[in-house]
Amino acid sequence: MTWADIDWAVLERLRGLFLSGGAAKGPYWTSPEDLAHYDCTYGERIGWKWDAVLQELDQRGWKPSPSLVLDWGCGSGVAGRRVVRWLGPERVSALRLWDYSALAADYACGAARADFPHVAVEHVTSGFLASDEPIGVLVISHVLNELPATELLALRGLAARANAILWVEPGTHEVSRALIAIREQLRDWFRLVAPCTHQAACGLLAPNNARHWCHHFAPPPVGIFADSGWVKFGQRAGIDLRSLPYSFLALERKAEGPGAGSAAGYSRVIGEPRVYKGFAKVLNCDAAGVKELMLQKRDVPELFKFFKRPAGALVYRWNRDGEKIIGAEAWHGSPDP
Ligand SMILES: C[S@@+](CC[C@H](N)C(=O)[O-])C[C@H]1O[C@@H](n2cnc3c(N)ncnc32)[C@H](O)[C@@H]1O
Repeated sequence: MTWADIDWAVLERLRGLFLSGGAAKGPYWTSPEDLAHYDCTYGERIGWKWDAVLQELDQRGWKPSPSLVLDWGCGSGVAGRRVVRWLGPERVSALRLWDYSALAADYACGAARADFPHVAVEHVTSGFLASDEPIGVLVISHVLNELPATELLALRGLAARANAILWVEPGTHEVSRALIAIREQLRDWFRLVAPCTHQAACGLLAPNNARHWCHHFAPPPVGIFADSGWVKFGQRAGIDLRSLPYSFLALERKAEGPGAGSAAGYSRVIGEPRVYKGFAKVLNCDAAGVKELMLQKRDVPELFKFFKRPAGALVYRWNRDGEKIIGAEAWHGSPDP
């Protein structure tokens, strides 16, 4: 589908559902065209967030073992396809797609088969959902604010069967907080691969951090601002294309040892550094909690400069004087300041 084929009324209807909360009231896809329109606009934008998450997992040096991938609440299936491409289709034994809208699961199956003709792509059966068959990688994307509590419970049951979980959601306060609650429920059984650099309770749960939330920003692809289709989509959908905030979790079932990609001892910057004249502030997360730290340009000039246009996951081992950063060693996979 190209911009010339877009029926803007279809996107308007979807936007209305997403904004009004109508999307949480039951299946809302009315035709394959709905899904095709979603896939190349809202879905593609979600794909950019997935690209940032998967790039961070590469930086961290972590990939789940080859296996069956389940995309739950798949919609048009953009998340499952991103993950299969990242894993390498030859390493995926099957891609299973589930959505309570059969139209969505059918569309997602067709799109995945077109992209990966050699991968077994299957529409999940309710029998599989009710079984205790192991799941290699459970993929969940942008479903949390459509789920009632009972469904969330069922999803936790599925999580219990997974070897790894990749979960990406919008970077809003409300949804990030819901994801943090899930993190806390799962961390006895799962190792927190990312975004956390530690396995302790989430520091954002401290009462003095109630106003903060765990979110990060994905870079939009180069060139979309010069693309009149994207510009029109941004305007009509009321979306600032420059800003792609997301929350995410990458989890792996616990095993002996620290696990691949362990960033123990490092800190992660939440959100983006705030840069002022001669100094910057970051909301810093590590095993000791979440705290605001400050760095002065004269102490770490390269990092100060980098923080003006940060890129990639900001994971560092700080040299600190109290709450002042006076030196930094980037996590070996992170961009060097
Ligand atoms: C905003 S869309 C996101 C789709 C896709 N995961 C993505 O990231 O583009 C949410 C999807 O969740 C599905 N969904 C909502 N509630 C569900 C439920 N209880 N069980 C299964 N799917 C559900 C909807 O049908 C819809 O396809």
